[in-house]
Amino acid sequence: MATKHKLIFGNCMEMGEIADGSIHFAITSPPYFNAPFDYDGLFTNYNQYLGVLNKFANESYRVLQEGRIFALNIDDMLVNGEKYPIVADSIKIFQSAGFRYRDKIVWKKPDGYLRISKRSGVILQNPYPMYYYPDNLLESIVIFQKGKFNYRTISQEVRELSKIDKKEFQNKNWHKTLWEITNVLPGSKLEKNVAAFPDELPYRLIKLFSYVGETVLDPFLGSGTTMKVARLLNRNCIGMEIIHDLEKVIKEKTGFDINNDMFNNEDKLEIIERKTGKYKFVTIEYVENKKKKGL
Ligand SMILES: C[S@@+](CC[C@H](N)C(=O)[O-])C[C@H]1O[C@@H](n2cnc3c(N)ncnc32)[C@H](O)[C@@H]1O
Repeated sequence: MATKHKLIFGNCMEMGEIADGSIHFAITSPPYFNAPFDYDGLFTNYNQYLGVLNKFANESYRVLQEGRIFALNIDDMLVNGEKYPIVADSIKIFQSAGFRYRDKIVWKKPDGYLRISKRSGVILQNPYPMYYYPDNLLESIVIFQKGKFNYRTISQEVRELSKIDKKEFQNKNWHKTLWEITNVLPGSKLEKNVAAFPDELPYRLIKLFSYVGETVLDPFLGSGTTMKVARLLNRNCIGMEIIHDLEKVIKEKTGFDINNDMFNNEDKLEIIERKTGKYKFVTIEYVENKKKKGL
């Protein structure tokens, strides 16, 4: 089955190119508020950040079909010793946009996760009470739903084509609210400077919440992980990304740069560039300057 993919370079606070109710499943990982490694100083303040989440949540609700799921990979963030309750705040924001809060899965990275600062080291230097700061190995995957899904709208043929492998489901512990998945290693070439999630994350979620031939949305596409996995799983995908410089990386990751045995070479990619208006795309240079100046 050939699939169709759309890459929109623009700001997902507005998703004008995407029709109401046209998306069957959405999965994304937004930038985390001024995350020290990736987005240091990008947002002026926390309220501005919540404003971005608010606009994107409302647009997501509009484009999602009735009954369908939005999976939000997000985490609280520690910035200059202050912990920001991003997970709780984004649940409230999504609820205000109209979504039902359905579930929360905890993604646990391996014990030796390399990217974290070893906050726990403080107590080794000062082995006394009040010096305890744990190392964080967890992120959340919050599952939201728009209304109720009507199972009868899916044909028997499509149900069978989309069947979940029960052995994989059980052996890999998909049934628990704790998913142990190895993160993308910091040195990975394609994901350099993009806080990418591992393929396994969209792989499980796309299989669990969409049918073959349907359309998956990732409004913060980054390196293109969701589009790659959607393509491999015979789903169409629409991805939005604000930084135009990521085009080459996305094409390479999704296999649209060159004919490739891994993918169906009949699949199509359309690229849309939003060059004007308040929510147009930006360049990496613009983002780096913004981080430096804290504009
Ligand atoms: C955490 S990364 C997503 C990584 C992605 N899941 C992957 O596996 O590569 C967030 C991405 O969102 C992009 N971004 C930030 N703000 C955006 C906005 N308002 N609209 C669209 N993309 C945005 C960033 O440039 C970054 O590439």
